[in-house]
Amino acid sequence: MNPNKALWEKGDFTKIAAAMRESGEELVESLGVKDGMDILDLGCGDGTTAVPAAQRGAHVLGVDIAENLVAAGNARAAAAGLSNLRFQEGDASDLRGLADGSFDLVVSIFGAMFAPRPFDVAKEMVRVTRSGGCIVMGNWIPGDPTLIAQVLKTSAAYTPPPPEGFISPVTWGIEETVRERFAAAGVPADNIVCERATYVFRCPAPPSELLETFKQYYGPTMNAFEAASKDGRADQLEAELTQLFEGHNRAGADRTEIPATFLKVTVAKP
Ligand SMILES: C[S@@+](CC[C@H](N)C(=O)[O-])C[C@H]1O[C@@H](n2cnc3c(N)ncnc32)[C@H](O)[C@@H]1O
Repeated sequence: MNPNKALWEKGDFTKIAAAMRESGEELVESLGVKDGMDILDLGCGDGTTAVPAAQRGAHVLGVDIAENLVAAGNARAAAAGLSNLRFQEGDASDLRGLADGSFDLVVSIFGAMFAPRPFDVAKEMVRVTRSGGCIVMGNWIPGDPTLIAQVLKTSAAYTPPPPEGFISPVTWGIEETVRERFAAAGVPADNIVCERATYVFRCPAPPSELLETFKQYYGPTMNAFEAASKDGRADQLEAELTQLFEGHNRAGADRTEIPATFLKVTVAKP
């Protein structure tokens, strides 16, 4: 089994995505999506960005490695009556089947960063983008003190080390590394803009409930709790994450609103 696919099919990311819909809408609004544009949403999950892009009249293809999330995305598209949106399985490291220059915009929000072989990911994103088109990535930043960077860091600290040669997904949050990967794909430095931006995780329940959702449905956190339980450290992990979720909540005690910083990368395809 492909461990990258297994990680995301293990849980149910739709439960986490429910807390991200508003920020997804805002991000798509900021991209200037227009009627008739061809958009690829890579590592799309169940369509937090693909659905609002299609609602603005674009032709959207969502590609994701997880079969369950592709099915959930297609169910959302059908429920919303969006015949201009479809989801299919695929790997961001190898987009065979998608022709060169097919998309005006390739968007990947916390998606392609999780694929193996990052140089291939950059090459594939550039290849399928039309000349004059654009790539927008959202990537969690290593060492950042906000929510998801810390969830990933804490989860990794409790999980057995990855196999040799594994490249951490959060290296996509380092500007220099991002520039190196796109340069290798033929993009001049002036065509790349990196800036910090924020996603807000919202849920109409206390932060402990959002943490419970991560514990039950978010692959990296599920793996951490499984490993921690085996060596008697589950309570310690729970305490660390509770402190994180509660400490970062900016809403009242009965609601959750936690901002998380990411690196927004915009690449203009020459
Ligand atoms: C954190 S979720 C983000 C989902 C979505 N972009 C959103 O904003 O809700 C990461 C997504 O990337 C997908 N993914 C991970 N590795 C992938 C790969 N190699 N190719 C395509 N999708 C991948 C996962 O299945 C998952 O849906």
